[in-house]
Amino acid sequence: MPDPAKTILHAIGLQKRFGGVVAARDVDFALTEGELRCVIGPNGAGKSTFFALLAGIQPPDAGRIELEGEDITRLKPFQRVRKGLGLTFQTNRTFHAMTLRQNLDTAGRGGEEPAPFRAALTAFGLDRGLDRPVTALAHHERQWLEICMALRGRPSVLLLDEPTAGMSPVETRRTSDVLRELNSGGLSIIVVEHDIAFVRATAQMVTVLHQGAIFAEGTMAEITAREDVRAIYLGKVREETA
Ligand SMILES: Nc1ncnc2c1ncn2[C@@H]1O[C@H](COP(=O)(O)OP(=O)(O)O)[C@@H](O)[C@H]1O
Ligand SMILES: [Mg+2]
Repeated sequence: MPDPAKTILHAIGLQKRFGGVVAARDVDFALTEGELRCVIGPNGAGKSTFFALLAGIQPPDAGRIELEGEDITRLKPFQRVRKGLGLTFQTNRTFHAMTLRQNLDTAGRGGEEPAPFRAALTAFGLDRGLDRPVTALAHHERQWLEICMALRGRPSVLLLDEPTAGMSPVETRRTSDVLRELNSGGLSIIVVEHDIAFVRATAQMVTVLHQGAIFAEGTMAEITAREDVRAIYLGKVREETA
């Protein structure tokens, strides 16, 4: 069972600069074991950079990242995966020429199938037809497959980059339902997400990024009540979707 007092993923003083742009500015971030956190922010806020730093796709200029107390700052993505960080990417990385089963096997590295993996596979309806090629799947099913692949490796933290990009409202809702179900089972999850409907349906706690820095943190109710957050994020989203 998760220990509610334990920080499972910890970023301390993360800095990342691209030329003149500060994409991560002194980011201190702590995920408690068993938590489901959404990281939001307007375009250019630094969400993808934050994901890339946590995933090990980009090295930070300064700062440290710890997973279950262990320093993983210098590890490559595949090494972080082995340490228990389950990753999915905004651009789908499934192997299209292979079947679902083959894709899932590459993610498994042998060993028994973890219960959350089985649960997600069934909830997404991917357990039927595992011998189909990935090309037979719809866009949203490929994203669901990628979540299942991440779960196959028995992660202690699941880190998702815009998992509902390009999904319909119904598919988005289903993704949210499954992630909340996994979280109820004790899985720690971070979702970097632009889609405010998804965040509303999903998040317990929200971290708002703005200009590379953490601008606000709190429950969805606290965040949406803040005028300054509405000004930088929610207002913009409303304009964009209007
Ligand atoms: N590889 C890169 N090279 C140069 N600038 C980058 C790169 N990645 C991100 N940036 C810049 O860093 C800032 C944050 O970008 P990003 O992390 O992609 O934000 P978000 O995902 O919230 O839209 C932006 O100003 C963006 O232009
Ligand atoms: Mg982005």
